[in-house]
Amino acid sequence: MESPITIRRLERADAASIVAIQSSCPELAQWSQHDYEAMAAGNPIGWVARRSVNATVADPNPSPIIGFITARIAADEMEILNLAVTSDKRRLGAASALLQAAMAWGIANEARRAFLEVRASNLVAIRFYSKAGFNQVGRRANYYTSPPEDALQLAAEIR
Ligand SMILES: CC(C)(COP(=O)(O)OP(=O)(O)OC[C@H]1O[C@@H](n2cnc3c(N)ncnc32)[C@H](O)[C@@H]1OP(=O)(O)O)[C@@H](O)C(=O)NCCC(=O)NCCS
Repeated sequence: MESPITIRRLERADAASIVAIQSSCPELAQWSQHDYEAMAAGNPIGWVARRSVNATVADPNPSPIIGFITARIAADEMEILNLAVTSDKRRLGAASALLQAAMAWGIANEARRAFLEVRASNLVAIRFYSKAGFNQVGRRANYYTSPPEDALQLAAEIR
C-alpha cells in the first residue's frame, strides 16, 4: 500500500526538487530556482507534497518531494500560479491535497475567489480543476507562447 501524502509549506531547500518536477512538465510556467527560494518567505507562497515515510538510521534521507503548488493573493482574489505532481505519483490525491492547503490559506487570508489560467489543450488539468469546483470564466486568445495557445481562465468561489 502507498504511504499517505503529507503537505507542508515550501522551504528554500525544496527549490531544486521543485524545478526538477517543473522542468518535466511542459504544461507549466517555468519559474526559476531563485523564484522558488524566494517563495519560502511569503507571498507568492508554496506547499510541497511528500510521501510520509519516516527517515531511519539506515536511510536518513527524508522522502522526496512528489509535487508542489504556488499561489498569491491580491485584494480578495487568490491566484494559483503553478501546480504539478511527478508523473509516477499522479492519481493518488497529491494535487487535491496541495490545492486544499492553498485554498485553506486563501480563506484564512480573506480571499473570496480563486482563479488560474491553463492551456486550452491541458484536458487533464481542466478535469482536475473542474472536479475541484472551478468553472471556466473566460478565454485569452494566444496567451501562451512556445507553442502559442489560448488560455482558459478558471475560477471558484471559496467563501
Ligand atoms: C493536473 C495534475 C496536477 C493532477 O495531479 P494528481 O495528483 O494526479 O491529481 P489528483 O490525484 O488529486 O486527482 C484528483 C481528480 O482530478 C481528476 N484527474 C486527475 N488526473 C486526471 C486524468 N489524468 N484524467 C482524468 N481526470 C483526472 C480526477 O477526477 C481525479 O480524481 P480521481 O482520481 O478520484 O478520479 C497532474 O496531472 C500534473 O502534474 N499535470 C502536469 C502539470 C499540469 O498540467 N499542471 C496544471 C497547470 S495549470
